[in-house]
Amino acid sequence: MDHFLYRDGELYAEDVRIADIAASVGTPFYLYSTATLTRHFQLFDEALDGMDHMVCYAMKAASNQAILKTLAELGAGMDVVSGGEYARAKAAGVPGDRIVFSGVGKTRAEIRQALDGGIRQFNVESEPEMRVISEIATSVGKTAPITVRVNPDVDAKTHEKIATGKSENKFGIPIAKAREVYAEAAALPGIEVIGIDVHIGSQLTDLTPYELAYQKVAELTEQLRADGHTIKRLDLGGGLGIPYARSNEAPPLPSDYGALIKRTVGHLGCEIEIEPGRLIAGNAGILVSRVIYVKQGEGRQFLILDGAMNDLIRPAMYDAHHDIVPVIEPEPGVEQEPYDIVGPVCESGDTFAKNRMMPPLKDGDLVAFRSAGAYGAVMASEYNTRPLVPEVLARGDQFAVIRQRPDFDEIINRDTIPPWL
Ligand code: LLP
Repeated sequence: MDHFLYRDGELYAEDVRIADIAASVGTPFYLYSTATLTRHFQLFDEALDGMDHMVCYAMKAASNQAILKTLAELGAGMDVVSGGEYARAKAAGVPGDRIVFSGVGKTRAEIRQALDGGIRQFNVESEPEMRVISEIATSVGKTAPITVRVNPDVDAKTHEKIATGKSENKFGIPIAKAREVYAEAAALPGIEVIGIDVHIGSQLTDLTPYELAYQKVAELTEQLRADGHTIKRLDLGGGLGIPYARSNEAPPLPSDYGALIKRTVGHLGCEIEIEPGRLIAGNAGILVSRVIYVKQGEGRQFLILDGAMNDLIRPAMYDAHHDIVPVIEPEPGVEQEPYDIVGPVCESGDTFAKNRMMPPLKDGDLVAFRSAGAYGAVMASEYNTRPLVPEVLARGDQFAVIRQRPDFDEIINRDTIPPWL
């Protein structure tokens, strides 16, 4: 459920008319709903009720500080994957002991940064990384809490570009090698092994792969404990999918996922961490764009928008579907027409949808891409020297620009000309 609903014939974000925001901010822009972010966070939090737990928002999904602050105030921790994300989380007021550092290639500088600023744990992805963390922590006289990310070799049944839990993927250490790696970890100075980490992929629409992976983690926990290791925390990753095509998708609910966690690892008495990104932010954000032209092609009509692949890359990159709806509510029973919905960027990949049935639209009309809150703004670029798309946050009857649209000077003045030119 989200808070982008038609009211009096127009789309609203909570109690704000989207057309008013468009008039004030210009298009395209991302628009988030505080109530939806809050609700989605709370669904996870409640799903783990009764267990010692922390929901660490995977901020790669949408990392604007206003979003981070909204979630942190509800009690969220943060899952970060770069020094930049770590700095952003800190800037948003998240304390180091609520920040988990994931990622397959943490640099020495990033490890040092997190040790200096405080860290809840590093999710270690390889032996070389573990040795470097040990070396750096020892050199600064600190002890780094770590989990080791294991790769359980399960098929997450999701798009190949976002599956991470098969042995052919670059993530984690093979679960069969885990005992060996934990033995080495126990002998290294400067690190303290506190648990196990697993993340098998993103946009999972079936719980079975989780069940298989978490069962393997439960077995491993018992084995490692028998080997003498302290396993007190399990980081179970993120990845729960959302309905992108609302008419025909119904992925599992966080409450079902929570019940699965309790069933598979609840008996171990560990503190549970999860790292959801998409399910918190995805349906809490839309991309609002304006029709520039309706162009008649050969046997098809193109809806040319002012938003483009640089603003929302998911359709071009993953063939992802986003529902696209007009901001003015269509009259009931209006005859729909097929459109190829495209942006102005000079490549055919800049296509959001082909043959999409829409009510008749004309120049100047506003449309909204639903489910664009996760992996939308964060993956935007300035390709074609198009200004980075701004972000707006709604809350009740208020809205605020949380990232301004840069003007052309700001963009082009970032270039520097070498002395020989
Ligand atoms: N934890 C780790 C270690 C991850 O790698 C990810 C996502 C998450 C948590 C959060 O997963 P989520 O709950 O958001 O599914 N750009 C792609 C998605 C990439 C996901 C990368 N890792 C997309 O637009 O679909």
